[in-house]
Amino acid sequence: MQRISQLLKGIPDFVKIVEVGPRDGLQNEKSIVPTDVKVELIKLLVSSGLSVIEATSFVSPKWVPQLADAKDVLEGIQDVEGVSFPVLTPNLKGFEAAVAAGAKEVAVFPAASESFSKANLNSGIEDNLARCRDIASASRSYSIPVRGYISCVVGCPFEGHVAQAKVAYVAKALNEMGCSEISLGDTIGVGTPGTVVPMLEAVLDVVPVDKLAVHFHDTYGQALSNTLISLQMGISVVDSSVSGLGGCPYAKGATGNVATEDVVYMLDGIGVKTNVDLGKLMQAGDFICKHLGRASNSRAATALSKVKAHASKL
Ligand code: HMG
Ligand code: MG
Repeated sequence: MQRISQLLKGIPDFVKIVEVGPRDGLQNEKSIVPTDVKVELIKLLVSSGLSVIEATSFVSPKWVPQLADAKDVLEGIQDVEGVSFPVLTPNLKGFEAAVAAGAKEVAVFPAASESFSKANLNSGIEDNLARCRDIASASRSYSIPVRGYISCVVGCPFEGHVAQAKVAYVAKALNEMGCSEISLGDTIGVGTPGTVVPMLEAVLDVVPVDKLAVHFHDTYGQALSNTLISLQMGISVVDSSVSGLGGCPYAKGATGNVATEDVVYMLDGIGVKTNVDLGKLMQAGDFICKHLGRASNSRAATALSKVKAHASKL
């Protein structure tokens, strides 16, 4: 017992979950999900107790057709109170459109890899950081917090291994421009604790731990291990996607984010508070999986629904 509590000692008592399903989860879906389905999904996620739900992106509809209805999605949730709905904004055009649509929080998303930056944003790292600075300075006059994402923090689909120094460089830049939180994204899900820990150590040298979040994709089944090790290093914000929705258009076979249900199941097991009701979260997952016509990628949700179905037959 003594030994177990030693191992769990560094883990925060409360973990804030940033639900990214409606944005990261849906952005690569080929068939367009109707706006009212997106709005209903967000409302179901709200009723599970999540306090931050990334709602959509104000990006070019030519690049991401699925999120072309960003304005309508925000309109559909404008009456929902007490929850933050950040939206992605790649440039001032997107920022201005987001503010006009009522966004109260935005996110910028540079990469740590030059090739990924060019593929995802049509601009290199430095040009993109300049756009992020423009957004950060415009946001100050509206008192809108800006979250900063970094893509490809351990691996890049074009360049392979990404040096920790590059991640730390971008993280420092985002911190200096005033980002409220910096989310470290293993975009293609190649990391293991062996690569994640040194990357986090490099970032922790330049950004305080209470400003960091982790964003793991589960391509190689490493997302929960990487999440746990990050919590043990004191990080208390975890991005995840209901039913593990999502993928990456530049990495064949890359899966979605770690499933929110799996993160909540693990944290419930450790006794870490999240204020998220797993049963209600599973209802949100069922809703979107039924709409997409596919099974959940959450191991916990799949197992728990089998247990429930079995129990109901007894
Ligand atoms: P570009 O083609 O270089 O843009 O794209 P441009 O400035 O040359 O403009 C071309 C056209 O796009 C113009 O329209 C602009 O008005 C329009 P046209 O005159 O041809 O009709 N445009 C826009 N329209 C709507 N909203 C805007 C906007 N900006 C320009 N904001 C751009 C550059 C950045 C716009 C484009 O590359 C883009 O939208 N990229 C976004 C890609 C994206 O959303 N990727 C997924 C999110 S990142 C991610 O998932 C990783 C993350 O989850 C972390 C992780 O997983 O690790 C965050
Ligand atoms: Mg992502």
